[in-house]
Amino acid sequence: TTRTPLMAGNWKMNLDWKQGLALVEDLGDALKGLDTSAVEAVVLPPAVDLRTVQTAVDAGKLPIAYGAQDISEHESGAYTGEISGAMLTALGATYVAVGHSERRQYHGETEQVTNAKVKAAFAAGLTPILCVGEALDERKAGKQVEFSLAQVEGGLEGLDAEQVARTVIAYEPVWAIGTGEVATPDDAQEVCAAIREWVRTVHGDTAADAVRVLYGGSVKSSNVAELMQRPDVDGALVGGASLKADEFAKIVRFQD
Ligand code: G3H
Repeated sequence: TTRTPLMAGNWKMNLDWKQGLALVEDLGDALKGLDTSAVEAVVLPPAVDLRTVQTAVDAGKLPIAYGAQDISEHESGAYTGEISGAMLTALGATYVAVGHSERRQYHGETEQVTNAKVKAAFAAGLTPILCVGEALDERKAGKQVEFSLAQVEGGLEGLDAEQVARTVIAYEPVWAIGTGEVATPDDAQEVCAAIREWVRTVHGDTAADAVRVLYGGSVKSSNVAELMQRPDVDGALVGGASLKADEFAKIVRFQD
């Protein structure tokens, strides 16, 4: 495969700015000398920490890319509390998570809103990390593929093959998020492969071979290597384990 593995740390709503600065400094040490041609490391801190990350990256102290956990679907204007794609790119951000299950579940984000945010990301020049994945009920009913593909289809509606090729899709079964209950590598592979096949059918071979499909849900340094052995798992979206520099650095260096 020619796809560069991508390890993304989603800090969620954790750490104040001083703690964020401390983590950025620790990450700089822990990731020193990282071979960035072999793996791409990304952090998605709270928006208030993006400037801190930018400063470290610009100073050559942090060999990573970074982005936000959410984006406004609107370009600019009277949308109190929202952050635009242009504001993120001005901070040097290159990625943004869209449609995380926590946004869907606790903030009422529909398929339509998710799709609008994916489009807003592209309009601003950001790479969306589109999150999909079933809850426990769908998993028990054996509907994990069907459910996840419907979210992929909804999230990517209206995009062309070239945009889909650049998108990152994160398969995150809701029952595995923050629960310590990681999906088995076979479970992860099943849905990640189905997502790539969907892209192949709808957008062709070039997009399918280029699109990066991540697994997320209780990823740790102790289980990442086995997950990464599966052919359609191109990386991980890491929550809790991304809050500790040494642990996240081990995940990023899963190949060593
Ligand atoms: O975005 C990250 C995922 O929701 C996974 O979170 O690693 O804490 O289970 P977790």
